Amino acid sequence: MILLTEMEHHSNLVPWQLLAQKTGAKISYIPVTGDEGLLDLSQLDSLLTSAVKLLSLVHISNSLGTLNPVEELCARARKLGIVTLVDGAQSAGHLPVDVQSIGCDFFAFSGHKICGPTGIGVLWGRQEILDAMPPYQGGGEMILSVGYDKTEFKPAPHRFEAGTPDISGPIALHAALNYLDAIGRANIWQHDQELAHHAYEKLAALKNIRLFGPKSGSDKRAGLVSFLLKDVHAHDVVTLADQAGVALRGGHHCTQPLMHKLGVESTARASFYFYNTKAEVDQFVEVIKEIQKFFGS
Ligand SMILES: Cc1ncc(COP(=O)(O)O)c(C=O)c1O
Repeated sequence: MILLTEMEHHSNLVPWQLLAQKTGAKISYIPVTGDEGLLDLSQLDSLLTSAVKLLSLVHISNSLGTLNPVEELCARARKLGIVTLVDGAQSAGHLPVDVQSIGCDFFAFSGHKICGPTGIGVLWGRQEILDAMPPYQGGGEMILSVGYDKTEFKPAPHRFEAGTPDISGPIALHAALNYLDAIGRANIWQHDQELAHHAYEKLAALKNIRLFGPKSGSDKRAGLVSFLLKDVHAHDVVTLADQAGVALRGGHHCTQPLMHKLGVESTARASFYFYNTKAEVDQFVEVIKEIQKFFGS
């Protein structure tokens, strides 16, 4: 059994579905509470059992902005001997991350979401688990010695890096990590949260708007706000906002199952980072008001 949550990005669903097809494993999901976008942990005792081999969950949801209680869930899983993986694509560049205090076995994030290059990311794994894992690909670079009938592999993690590596990618990724370290993840997190709460409160004061994710003031809300205007398609909101100089994203955000669960096709989403300002949030909300006027919504 593989345990995921209902708010996973496709990249934390599709690989497990492929694995399940190959091995016959079943997948179950920790439910989401609804528009407020929290994990409903009331059924956890019946979901997180010793039948589960892997718990894989998103740290911060890219669709809802929810910060999940990964420390608590990994600790509970660990007691049952369950391997844990945290998808940190939306957290690694936004808040201080310490894999030891999270207590996970694997932590993954992408270069392009931390001001780094595309096509590269990091998969951190607990050393004793990596040491017990065989290579999943073969090639040069990963070997200690090769004979005609037998190969000796390098220790982990090098035995997982078959072939000539992407040399420029890690150099650029390292520069991006240094850049963010200099700004400070704690500063980024505080700034993200201030902007997200400010945006949420201003949007919540509008009529005919549906907001997704944890309520303003909640320490579970990260730096984005997903929303829908009544009777206006998310893509129309995004197109008009773009014409007014405000970049939003519209769509299913690679979380189609979550959208179906919430009964929507898509949402519009504003996301914030260290380079955004409160004045920009105010401008964004003014543009949303104009869009409402335009559509009579
Ligand atoms: C939460 C989350 N997980 C995973 C990913 C996938 O990242 P990548 O496309 O780099 O594999 C994204 C990208 O949007 C994401 O937001």
